[in-house]
Amino acid sequence: MQTKIAVRGGNPLLGNVRISGAKNAAACILPATILAAGKCTIENVPAISDVTYTLRILESLGAKVRLLDKNTLEIDTAPLHGHTVTHDLTRHMRASYYFLGALLGRFGQARVAMPGGCNLGVRPIDLHEKAFAMLGATVDTEENAIISCSAEKLVGTQIYFDVVSVGATANAMLAAVRADGRTQIENAAKEPHIVDLANFLNAMGANIRGAGTDTIRVDGVPQLHGCTWSVVPDQIEAGTYMVAAAATGGNVLVENVTPKHLESISAKLRESGALVEEYDDAVRVIGHSRPHKCSVKTMPHPGFPTDMQPQMAVLLSVATGTSYITESIFDNRFRWVDQLARMGAVVKVDGKMAVVEGVESLMGAPVQADDLRAGAAMLIAGLMALGQTEIEHIEYIERGYENVVEKFKALGADIFYLQDADEDAVLLAG
Ligand code: UD1
Repeated sequence: MQTKIAVRGGNPLLGNVRISGAKNAAACILPATILAAGKCTIENVPAISDVTYTLRILESLGAKVRLLDKNTLEIDTAPLHGHTVTHDLTRHMRASYYFLGALLGRFGQARVAMPGGCNLGVRPIDLHEKAFAMLGATVDTEENAIISCSAEKLVGTQIYFDVVSVGATANAMLAAVRADGRTQIENAAKEPHIVDLANFLNAMGANIRGAGTDTIRVDGVPQLHGCTWSVVPDQIEAGTYMVAAAATGGNVLVENVTPKHLESISAKLRESGALVEEYDDAVRVIGHSRPHKCSVKTMPHPGFPTDMQPQMAVLLSVATGTSYITESIFDNRFRWVDQLARMGAVVKVDGKMAVVEGVESLMGAPVQADDLRAGAAMLIAGLMALGQTEIEHIEYIERGYENVVEKFKALGADIFYLQDADEDAVLLAG
């Protein structure tokens, strides 16, 4: 029996929505607790399936995890006894690669199966491996696509990344934090969760400076200790609700956010005609008539996030005029196009560019979530469309959005879970 999400479009979203902790920050902070070799209390952890998978890995390694409340975890990594993570545990998510850096940093050894996650094209981890090797680790690939890293001693070094990589930057920090001497990471990623991870590691006793700039300096310390940390708000969840507010001609106060992290999204929404007001820890988005066309190019932070590209494209699918969307981070991030076409959108893909010809409106249709953010985009499309949209493979959406149906419902959306079996029951009754 498959659960779908059904949306009857047309209601403008109105009211307030509270944003959860960031999926991608939790994704590196939870493995980073391994480096404490003690107890950490992590607050504002989003209740999403990626967190469940991460905790499963921690527990398989011997960590003791206690849920203090829905969004607060106590993790004791003192009793950790293993450094191997198998494929059945890593296949669900990309961020399982952070166990390489964290285990290597603590034990000088890590064996982790190749990470899974959304299919966005080729997603190599050569830069992660390069960073570990430069710190003095021997990096090998074993049978069953297990990556193994080991080092007698990790030694600080200069690491230059040819490509800005969020995962490799975070992994280099994790491995370097207890290395001998200074590590300098050049061309580092600057995403909010990189800064959150560095601040968390510093709260555990690390000595990291420069996170949020191109150059991060990590002065190795002999050991770290437990601490209490609250995960930064989710920039992408916030952006998704902002776009949904604009797309439905709504008026939504998006709370518990850092407006600075949302600047590229706010700028594009304004360009498309929405009103965006910024407060200390909230933004209000007011949508008006049909959006104006605008062009979007995804870039590393502080550029427009690739994780917001499908959602923004859906908004622009009903714009007046033609919008050009350039994806410069991933090779295969236009899988939403076929689904959106089923709803009446007119989009042509030419290499790294999607040309979106605005239509008057979308029509509800059966569609599927092809990956996490494409799934979020289908939700927004359903909220905008005339009639009912039914979205399959919502497990992708649940990887990254806490209580998504409840949150949209509280904003006035006509949205609900639908079981395939219910449909059968209706058919039988008919
Ligand atoms: C992270 C985010 C993901 C987001 C992406 C870009 C997490 C868990 N995931 O993914 O949501 O979409 O950043 O903001 O935080 N690359 C290499 N070699 C490597 C690593 C990356 O060539 O070793 C390339 C990638 O193929 C891609 C680019 O670098 O073209 C950026 O990827 P990266 O920032 O590493 O993305 P992820 O860490 O996979």
